[in-house]
Amino acid sequence: MLRQPIIALLGHVDHGKTSLLDKIRQTAVASKEAGGITQAIGTTEIPLDAVKELCSELAKKFRFNIDVPGLLFIDTPGHEAFTTLRKRGGLIADLAILVVDINEGLMPQTEESLDILKSTKTPFVVAMNKIDRIAGWSSKNMCFLSNYNEQTDDAKEGLEKKFYMTIEQLSRRGFAADRYDRVTDFTKTIAAVPVSCKTGEGIPDLLAMLVGLAQQFLKKKLVTTDKSEGIILEVKETTGLGTTIDVIIYNGSVKKNDFLIVGGRNPKITRIRAILVPEPMRDMRTEKKFRSIESANAASGIKISAPELDDVVAGSLIRTAKTREAAEGIFEEMIKEKEEVEIANDTEGIILKADTIGSMEALIYIFRDYPVKEAKIGSISKQDVMKIESNKDKLLKVIIGFNVSPNEEVENFAADKGIRILTSNIIYKLIEDYEKWVEDEKAAIKKREIDATVRPGKIRILPGCIFRASNPAIVGCEVIGGVIKPNCSLFKNGSDFKRVGEVKQIQSQGQNIEQAKQGDKIAVSIIGPAVGRQINEDDILYTDIDSEDYKKLMKNEKFLSESEKATLKEIYEIKKKLDNRYGL
Ligand code: GTP
Ligand code: MG
Repeated sequence: MLRQPIIALLGHVDHGKTSLLDKIRQTAVASKEAGGITQAIGTTEIPLDAVKELCSELAKKFRFNIDVPGLLFIDTPGHEAFTTLRKRGGLIADLAILVVDINEGLMPQTEESLDILKSTKTPFVVAMNKIDRIAGWSSKNMCFLSNYNEQTDDAKEGLEKKFYMTIEQLSRRGFAADRYDRVTDFTKTIAAVPVSCKTGEGIPDLLAMLVGLAQQFLKKKLVTTDKSEGIILEVKETTGLGTTIDVIIYNGSVKKNDFLIVGGRNPKITRIRAILVPEPMRDMRTEKKFRSIESANAASGIKISAPELDDVVAGSLIRTAKTREAAEGIFEEMIKEKEEVEIANDTEGIILKADTIGSMEALIYIFRDYPVKEAKIGSISKQDVMKIESNKDKLLKVIIGFNVSPNEEVENFAADKGIRILTSNIIYKLIEDYEKWVEDEKAAIKKREIDATVRPGKIRILPGCIFRASNPAIVGCEVIGGVIKPNCSLFKNGSDFKRVGEVKQIQSQGQNIEQAKQGDKIAVSIIGPAVGRQINEDDILYTDIDSEDYKKLMKNEKFLSESEKATLKEIYEIKKKLDNRYGL
């Protein structure tokens, strides 16, 4: 008796892995995912009956009997960050479907999937997906071969062209592949099946290929060993059972009362109280009805009830043992694995937190270009906040949480300390948010710098607007260039450099204002000069910009208005002529 083959769906992000499984199940998991991408491994069991129903006709055509007990599918994420989950998927799979969008061809994670399949020596078929998008294509029949003959010549040509472009790319990577009905030797040529997960066309053909391959090449491999191994897909509250875990057992078998060793954040030893299974054709992630069984053999998706599962997290590996001693040995191994992933540095850097080893690896990968002080599995705590408080670089005072968030107390504490916390359950959003925050912060820092700098400005004293002659002089002016703010020095363009005094306040319509720009008419109080002596009606005065400020302004030129830029240039020219302070 053969066990069910585990079939991994691999491929580039959005090429249609989840949709393919959905179509087989006729459910809609893909559209319910956060961000529309898969971030965990999910399993679905397709029993023999369903397989037969879908592809017995094709099996007849290709002359084989269906004798696998069913198929166990695992869906993997295609986003670049989830290398580990893809690898894990590739490792536990007996067979794989490489999903390629026929309109896009091979993409980076398709190539990576090919590397995984090659290194794990996993046989696979290629699903050339999204054929419904080919111009003029119409899906009248679920079976691709029957439908193909009904197409117009143009549609056929459109498909062949795109299909063989991808075949050519595969060939350049050293994989010989062809349309499955044109393959004569399946040991030499990889079968590629055109499919549409939208219309369902080609799915019977694909399943027939999988079953045929499994039976032809895998009979020996579908025998399990003693070492029980599994991975937690989800941790859930189940009515009457407390916290339970959904796992896929990909090796060995598990029994009621076995010791259960769970890896992850806090590796632990507990004992299996009950084993539950969903009805066939249901995804463990969404099913609600379960029945209890005594033991489960690989490969299967099961729900385990056991004490003390409250703080275990999805993505963690599980093992089982018959004795406590064996369990303790496995426990030690798991502690070591966790320590290998986590990072602890004494240097400046951000802090990364995630819920599982798999997601931690993904997070470290996606932040690989940034300095990391610490990467630890677990929730965000006050200690984390205190640890990065000492970072000198404000842009590194950040804690990133993937699938973990702080409680309100920690959140407030961080806000008090000026520590930024960014969390999301969509991995690429974290890097996007962080990079956007860094950019905004940098702009804000520059803006503050420039706000503190004297701005280039030019004013003309209006005739008949002398409100007070001195101590301070108060005169009506028009800003004729740039910007003017309180607390700046003014100078007058003349035969030599003449500083006239300091602007104390600026008023507009009787109100103090922080700045005035070209065209504004304002009243300015100036400490130092007396009207009739140092300054007069119609005088033109400039803000006095020293060489330090000049450099700062030039560096942040993009924050200056055109008028300020022109005035700065004018001031520079005048001062260059009047004295040699700019060293030119
Ligand atoms: P990740 O899990 O993030 O790697 O993506 P995925 O490979 O599971 O892709 P998913 O199934 O989420 O599909 C991505 C998008 O492509 C969705 O909007 C689907 O509706 C669409 N899609 C999938 N298959 C087909 C198809 O055959 N035809 C068309 N037109 N759209 C499809
Ligand atoms: Mg998916």
